[in-house]
Order: sequence, then C-alpha cells, then structure tokens
Amino acid sequence: MVTTQFDLRKIIRKVIGDRLLVLASNREPYIHVYKEGKISYIRPVGGAVTALDPVMRACGGIWVASGTGAADKKVVNRKDEVRVPPEKPRYLLKRIWLSKEEENGYYFGFSNRAIWPLCHITYTRPVFDESDWQYYKQVNQKFADAIIKEIGNKSAFVWIQDYHLALLAKYLKEKNPNIKTAHFWHIPWPNPEAFRICPKKKEILQGLLANDLLGFHIRYYCNNFMENVNLELEARVDNERTSVVYKGHETLVRSFPISVDFEELSKLSNSKKVKQELVKLEEEFRLNKIEHVIMGLDRIDYTKGIPEKIKAIDRFFEKYPQYKERVVFIQKGALSRIHIETYKNLNDEINDLVEEVNWRHSTDGWAPIIFARRHFSREEISAFYKIADVCLVSPLHDGMNLVAKEYVATKNDLNGVLVLGQFTGAARELEDVVAVNPYDANNFADQIKKAIEMKPEKKKKMMANLRRVVAENNIYKWALKFISELQKI
Ligand code: G6P
Repeated sequence: MVTTQFDLRKIIRKVIGDRLLVLASNREPYIHVYKEGKISYIRPVGGAVTALDPVMRACGGIWVASGTGAADKKVVNRKDEVRVPPEKPRYLLKRIWLSKEEENGYYFGFSNRAIWPLCHITYTRPVFDESDWQYYKQVNQKFADAIIKEIGNKSAFVWIQDYHLALLAKYLKEKNPNIKTAHFWHIPWPNPEAFRICPKKKEILQGLLANDLLGFHIRYYCNNFMENVNLELEARVDNERTSVVYKGHETLVRSFPISVDFEELSKLSNSKKVKQELVKLEEEFRLNKIEHVIMGLDRIDYTKGIPEKIKAIDRFFEKYPQYKERVVFIQKGALSRIHIETYKNLNDEINDLVEEVNWRHSTDGWAPIIFARRHFSREEISAFYKIADVCLVSPLHDGMNLVAKEYVATKNDLNGVLVLGQFTGAARELEDVVAVNPYDANNFADQIKKAIEMKPEKKKKMMANLRRVVAENNIYKWALKFISELQKI
C-alpha cells in the first residue's frame, strides 16, 4: 500500500503528540534572491532539502537552517522567521546568520574539507584544520542556542540532518535533557580504516551518540558506524538491538533508505507547464533531430564522477562511431562549494575534458556533449527527464542519490533506461537498471550502448518494476518509518 502525506500526518500526531517538531539542517529549503530587481526565491538542488521539504509540508513545524540568499534578511520577521513554501505556506523557516569566518570554517572548512571527503571514499584527502573545527563547534552551538530559544518551555522533538551538525544533539541536551533528538546522516559512513584518521573522531562519535535515534541510508553504513564506536569509545554496542549504550544513554541505530515524493513528481511530469518547457528545451539545445538523448544531472562535486562519465562518453563514440550525430549527452551541472580549491580544480578539469572530447568527435553542426550550467527550474528538470532516453547516474560514492529515483518517478511513459553506478546507496534498492562501475570507462561505454539499444518491451518492463519500487518506498514511507521508530525509545 502506498503511504501518503495523510498517513504521515496521522502517525506524527500519534508519536510526537503535542511536542513541537523542529527540523535542523545547514541548507535552507528556500533561498530568497533578487531577480530583475525584485525579490524572488530558488529551491536548492541538494538531496537533503529536496527530500525533506515534502515531509515538512505534510507535518508542519519549524525548520532551522542557515540563511544564505541575498534577499533572505529582507523577508524574515523579527525572530528571523518566514513562512514557506512562499506560494502556499505550510511551515516556518527560521534562519540563522553566519559570519564570513563562520561560513568559511564550519561549512567550507570542517564540513566540506574534512568530513565530506572522509565519508566518501573517492581518494580525495580530507583536510583537518584546528580553526575550522573551532568554527564547526561554534556554529553547532549557535544552532543549539537558536533552537533552545525557539522551543522555550515547550516539549520538543528535534530532527537533525546531516554531517554539518554532528554536535548539535549534545549541545541541545546539555541545555535541556528532556528534548528528544534524532539525527539522519545523509552521506555514507566510512569503514573504521578510513574513519580512524580523523583527529576529532571521538568528539564526532560522542556528539552523535547524544541522539536517541541515529539513521543512515543503508545497513552497511550502520554497521560501519557501530564498528567505529566499538574501536574508539568505551561503549556497549548491541548488535541484536542495533543500538549503542554510551555513558548510560542508548542510541538506536537504524537504516532508512531515503526517497522522493513519487506521486508529486509523476504528476508534475504530466503538467502543461512541463510540456511547454520540453518544447523550449528541445529548441534551446537543438535536440529535435537527435535519436537518443542521454542525460546527467549532478552538483559539480568530485564524488559524482562527472569526468568519469565524460570519459565513458568519449570511449562510447570511439568504439561506436555509428552513433555520431544520432546521440547527444547533455549533462547539467550545478556549481557547488566553489570556494574550495578541489571544487575549483574539478570545474576546470570538466571544462577542459568537455572541450577535448567535443573537439575529437564533433562533426559539422553536431557535438557529442552539451554541458549546461545554468540553474534549471523543477519544471525544466522534469522536462529533461522526459526527454532523456537514458539517464546516467554514476557517482564514485554516494549515500543514496535521489536523481536516480526522480528520473524513475518522472517516467510515466516507461520509455527510459536508468544506468546506475554500483557505488550508490540507490543501487541496493533499484535492481532493474543497467549497472556500471564508473572507474571502468570501457565497460561503461558498452553499458551505454546496451541502454540505448534495449528493446522497447524490456525497457518498459524494467522501468515499470523500478516505478513500483519507488512508488511503494516513497518519501512519506521513509519519514513514517523514521518517526515510528521513535516509539521504541
Ligand atoms: C549532500 C548533502 C546534503 C546537501 C547536498 C548539497 O547531498 O548530504 O545535505 O544538501 O549535498 O550540498 P550543499 O553543500 O550545496 O548544501
């Protein structure tokens, strides 16, 4: 049976009762900006906010996040709050303001130069800087202070998101031990060999073990976490209950594979607006005469394997030149964390690669790769998914990857093949795909050919199976399972 937002609302009431629901994440779900002199807003592309916005729409409550938009300060009230979604408000967004130094040390520094590469095994060396760590602690404390102020003397449940806020539960409980907290970690958790190099490993584990419930996407990350705790702390790891008791406090550790709002995406793809966008995009990118459109959609991040995809496309045209002028690969890349040198270098590397591959294979009026960098609206992205016969999702390592599930949710006509990297969390759930190892360009090229040449009946059958899995395990079911687990505390 498909879980709906109504089911979720019901269980939330039952489990949380009259406690206030507070969600905390670094990234905000709506960013206010200036567009042609007027205040407008954009929705960031990251996985966490995409998944959680429908949950908060269904449940109501307060979402606390750092405000980063140029017009963010203009729209908040005296308590730094604004009701969202702007067009049909359902919950409160409370913004926290960070100084340049805090943003640099906490966000670019410890979160994204240390923890991010530490948790993703992509051979990018983490940088541990003492002053970044001090800012990381300071900002986690700032979130705690803001939340405590917001809660006042009410009872509350705080749902913490991701690797930016590993110390938040500890700071909250130091001030008010009655607050219930749960933390969902949206990225992989590494094995002990990788994690043990972190100079702040004990503090991070202790911070997370202040939670009552700790969630990861897949069982494997839970096991890694528990092994790390076993090695680093004097704690009781209970593999039967999958929980950890540390200093007399128990934390349940569970896997909850995150998902998307299947129904909403499926509906959106049938809308008039998306159909109009589709026509515009086909014109803008001259896709009308192309037989097969292959697409990719990623934040520009070294974990996403974008150069590896381009190399596979290069190999594909080298091995199968009969597809020249008939196939195009369109990759949309949202700029990300660009103040970090590795990201800047990656961006340059991608530019060079695209140019080189296009130069090698292009013919009169045709080039194999279109790299599109501008911001695309949800309707445009939906239109791209509709256009694409094949979607390449091939990160080098990824906690889940929601692009894979979004593509499936959009393909109402069943006319599409998902080429999925085996190092994504999604690969554990989505079996009817063409699987690839992104490090193996030669085989990747063959798998692209296989996807393109797949017989319509087989394609449809595979997509129908995928759609069943994603429809059943939608974002509401994810949230419902997570919240229901709180009853065991
Ligand atoms: C990852 C994180 C998300 C985050 C996303 C975008 O997927 O797990 O929490 O939203 O990256 O990153 P950004 O740094 O732009 O928020």
